[in-house]
Amino acid sequence: MAETVAIIGGTGVYNLDTDAKTEIIKTEFGNVEVSRMGDVVFLNRHAPKHSIPPHKINYRANIKALDILGVKRICATFAVGIINEKFKLGTPIIVSDFIDMTSGREHSFFDKLDNAKGHVDMSNPFCPVLSQALEDVAKSKSISVKKGGVYMATNGPRFESPAEIKAWRLLGADMVGMTLCPEIGLALELGMSYAGFAYGLNWGAGMTDVIEIQDDVEGIKTKMLDVMITALAQTKNTDCIPASLI
Ligand code: HPA
Repeated sequence: MAETVAIIGGTGVYNLDTDAKTEIIKTEFGNVEVSRMGDVVFLNRHAPKHSIPPHKINYRANIKALDILGVKRICATFAVGIINEKFKLGTPIIVSDFIDMTSGREHSFFDKLDNAKGHVDMSNPFCPVLSQALEDVAKSKSISVKKGGVYMATNGPRFESPAEIKAWRLLGADMVGMTLCPEIGLALELGMSYAGFAYGLNWGAGMTDVIEIQDDVEGIKTKMLDVMITALAQTKNTDCIPASLI
């Protein structure tokens, strides 16, 4: 049986194919709309017309819906603000680690433990196999990407203060965004492998006089989807080692 894989699209990445039919997956946490192109499931994180802000996304329903569809590998995209001045706006970044500053979000499936097991190991949050495939495929297509970067996850929907941006940078973050967490932890809790591209739309607060959002993301979207679809196809049935439950 062909393995089902998934792409979760963030800001600017709302579909794989405008003609794709959508379907509703019912979960115990709520209903989720997805579309399919062959064995790739596409989930638009912000829903049609970008109507759901980051702090209101039903992350548990989204990941549970992919689980119901048999998904074991996810590639996701995230719009971010760049806070490391050595990085560039608009270049897809293969995210390698994160710091979670979100709060008040439903962030776990383990509200009740089975024999104490329910602490997912986050030593390797981003699947090394999928992340390497993203890099290799981008190279083979002459698409410029940046390998590695630390994502600071905030609640939003407000942007940060200049002092927050300085503090996150001191803590080791390269970019700041509002949607990676708890999505990645939930995926790993259900035994899925997860990797992703972040793309900078603006510099962090205080790094420029005013925040200017780069809103023409069509070109970046096309490149990221091209690389992700190929990387998911190439890594099919290779061993992605899921995070262990401790
Ligand atoms: N901060 C947080 N999230 C973001 C930003 C930002 O500057 N830009 C895009 N998503």
